[in-house]
Amino acid sequence: MCGIVAYIGPKDASPILLEGLQRLEYRGYDSAGVAVVAPATKSAPARLRVCKTKGRVADLAAALPARFKGSVGIGHTRWATHGVPSDANAHPHTDNEGRIAVVHNGIIENADELRAKLAADGALFRSETDTEVLAHLVAAHRAEGGELEDAVRAALKLVVGTYGIAVLDAEQPDRIVVARNGSPIVLGIGEKEMFAASDVSALVRYTRQVVHLEDGELATVRADGFRTFTEDARTVTRQPSTVDWEVGSYDTGGYAHYLLKEIHEQPGAVERTLSGRLDERFATAHLGGLNLDARELREIRRVKILGCGSAYYAGEMGAQLIEELARIPAHSEPASEFRYRNPVIEADTLYVAVSQSGETYDTLAAVQEVKRKGGRVLGVVNTVGSAIARECDGGIYLHAGPEISVASTKAFTSTVVAFALLALHFGRIHDLSPADGRRIVAGLKALPDQIREVLGQQAEIEKLAAAYADSQGMMFIGRVRGYPVAREGAQKLKEISYVHAEAYPASELKHGPLALISPELPTVALVPNDELLDKNLTALGEIKAREGRVLAVAHRQVEAKLADHCLVVPKSEPELDPLLLNIPLQLLAYHAAVALGRDVDKPRNLAKSVTVE
Ligand code: AGP
Repeated sequence: MCGIVAYIGPKDASPILLEGLQRLEYRGYDSAGVAVVAPATKSAPARLRVCKTKGRVADLAAALPARFKGSVGIGHTRWATHGVPSDANAHPHTDNEGRIAVVHNGIIENADELRAKLAADGALFRSETDTEVLAHLVAAHRAEGGELEDAVRAALKLVVGTYGIAVLDAEQPDRIVVARNGSPIVLGIGEKEMFAASDVSALVRYTRQVVHLEDGELATVRADGFRTFTEDARTVTRQPSTVDWEVGSYDTGGYAHYLLKEIHEQPGAVERTLSGRLDERFATAHLGGLNLDARELREIRRVKILGCGSAYYAGEMGAQLIEELARIPAHSEPASEFRYRNPVIEADTLYVAVSQSGETYDTLAAVQEVKRKGGRVLGVVNTVGSAIARECDGGIYLHAGPEISVASTKAFTSTVVAFALLALHFGRIHDLSPADGRRIVAGLKALPDQIREVLGQQAEIEKLAAAYADSQGMMFIGRVRGYPVAREGAQKLKEISYVHAEAYPASELKHGPLALISPELPTVALVPNDELLDKNLTALGEIKAREGRVLAVAHRQVEAKLADHCLVVPKSEPELDPLLLNIPLQLLAYHAAVALGRDVDKPRNLAKSVTVE
């Protein structure tokens, strides 16, 4: 949610800032802006130049004056929280004199109070944002003398809330000051040049050597290096690490959209999630990062999974896997609800937080609530070293690779695979037989090829998507294992195509939603070939009797009198079937969105990482 990029070095900053912002645009895309320090001339001192606009980074690039030169600068792409998307509310924000510029991710909770005090002292506010108070606060402290970093530290001491910030001062153009509290900031180390950003994706084209700031830390970044320190001015030493992923992981790689690329990356993502974790000899899984031994795991009586949106639905699939394989009661709950209902935390419950980004504020707050009450939390997280990963007591990294498109696909699939590993591990510690363990191991190993097989049906799914895309809405139904698949399928469709979609357990149809069924509201039905096959077919008969159109996703052809169309997916082990049944629904949503001309990777009103409440 919002992206920050900063550059200092010998080159012209604005092309680098624009390129970085383009890569960060998936995090927020309602407005964008840059500020550079234009060097002093014979007749004028160095001065700040700011260009910002409502709209996309491409709009900013078009609006940028031809001679917008400076070798130190900061940039931002925004997802509005305080104030509508507008030129005025776009970052960077500046003080009265236009000497200090600030870009900010996060929320200043006491912004109203600070604003009133600053306004009383003469600050002129030109936006509705919480961020602008930071620019005025820093300027007020700079007026008292001292260095920029001292002024930033003093300003941040007055602030309640979360932030990742980058600050520029026209009078000290030899540095950028950055700070982190709850919103990531990473430094990129170049050859006599330095970068900073909210996300490594903005840096990988220039450097693979990075330094992640911790919460409560600041850094002074100069062209020839950096210094990290705490809010109390204590110097801290941070060692650089190397970014694992290739630059190409952050490109569309020849696909029309990141989403399509990420859907097609799933076989590889699953292979990486499984890599080194399957133990054929004991028919179990090795999960080194759990930090729980077998004895501690045996004491767990319940599992509570916490996540938001698709992470929550992946958690629902995870809960079913844990109940089925380990026979431990397990339940998934939206982290956004859990954190506000004063939850009862039990010593023998294992809490599992799920997050692709590792930054989702509601999930992070839920983890903190569990820990505050003495509970134990594992993380199932994609982004290594992210806030949620760091807050958890242990966990499983997905290794799915960077996910750029706002809609989660490969991270969703890898999350469910990670849960299958956890459930297998738990199960084999409890009563899952070696034979059943071997069955699951073999099923997991077969998944990448089976996913490839489903992806091979893309052309057929594209045609079906075009046929169904103009519906007034769509119903998704599934029973027991199929129900979370239906929920995730409906989520994907509405999120990127804006077609209204509802998900129901097939068993609940006649308790209400059957009233909606008509030729205008088609149904996507999950029909696995399992013990509930006959029940599912009965539900299809009920829909067809009401003239509803049916698209079945099944393990074998459903007869024409029960389904207008049928997509046949490969059969896995029953417990793993949901993983494969979900893949065609991703492609269906993608092609429906394309057919409707939607902005697939950046759907309206959404952003990739929801770092605000
Ligand atoms: C997924 O398609 C959505 N964009 C959204 O529901 C997402 O899964 C949710 O916001 C949680 O994100 P996280 O996995 O990064 O925590």
